[in-house]
Amino acid sequence: MTARPLIIDCDPGVDDAIALFLAFASPDALDVRAITTVAGNVGGALTARNARLIRELAGRADVPVYAGCERPMVRAPVDAGDFHGESGLGNLPVFEPSAPQEQMHAVMFLIEALMAAPTKSVTLAITGPMTNVAMAFVLAPQLAGRVAEIVVMGGARAEGGNITSSAEYNIYADPHAAHVVFSSGAPIVAFGLDVTHQVRSTPARIDAIRAIGTPASRASADLLEFSAGVERNIPGVSGAPLHDPCTIAYLLSPNLFRLAPCAIVVETGEGVALGHTSVELRDMEFSSMRWATHADDEGVFALLLERLRA
Ligand code: RIB
Ligand code: CA
Repeated sequence: MTARPLIIDCDPGVDDAIALFLAFASPDALDVRAITTVAGNVGGALTARNARLIRELAGRADVPVYAGCERPMVRAPVDAGDFHGESGLGNLPVFEPSAPQEQMHAVMFLIEALMAAPTKSVTLAITGPMTNVAMAFVLAPQLAGRVAEIVVMGGARAEGGNITSSAEYNIYADPHAAHVVFSSGAPIVAFGLDVTHQVRSTPARIDAIRAIGTPASRASADLLEFSAGVERNIPGVSGAPLHDPCTIAYLLSPNLFRLAPCAIVVETGEGVALGHTSVELRDMEFSSMRWATHADDEGVFALLLERLRA
């Protein structure tokens, strides 16, 4: 099997970091061409630094990092520091990574990379606000027809919201960008809270990850422990949801998830519903978009353990 060319656009971010570790640990299946970063969980300078830090811990300084948009397309910036800590990486000891980021802006890189690659050869994984990809699609609309697939963590249907009662953070942080991407016609698989809330850490799962004993697995266990601590403050919730890693787990093992054809409309108007995703599953058999409805959470954690051990 040849490795799938992949660009990961992210806002690390505790769960973004675990998604990166999972992708970096899978070179046989995923040819990570680049990481592009965007302001989201924390500011743009920190998400770029964090992507460089995670790639260093993973021993993958061969993968270039491009910093992208520092603010959403229209609305005012909103971070998720409460969930990710001031550094964006929980209480992980942070340091200045040795390998620098690239000079080119992430949006320009996305355009150049997708125009230069054979059409429908490169997959995009988006695990933060979709600002970079939306800006690339506005500048070069033909990109929507050139991507192999877009897997995105974002939105909610049955689960309600996590940043407001009606919106999931990645969409809420840049609803206009989400509208541009979801209405582009590109082939998209969306992993919303409905499915990511089915995949949660437990103390036993965290212990098993830590026992692997590598820098990436120790860091992953620390990150999951931090998130579990944050989630404990939420009534009726236990364990940290593995939001962003679900996108990478799907690329590695699609049979771990059940998908349904869908249409997704984003509320971009000011007010209580800003960032809400209306996910339609009825009569959608001809849609180019899929909504993940179910996850095999045991299988996702087994995959994470297997890959981090490799
Ligand atoms: O709602 C979860 C999403 O918001 C994840 O991507 C997490 O990293 C935060 O960005
Ligand atoms: Ca994220």
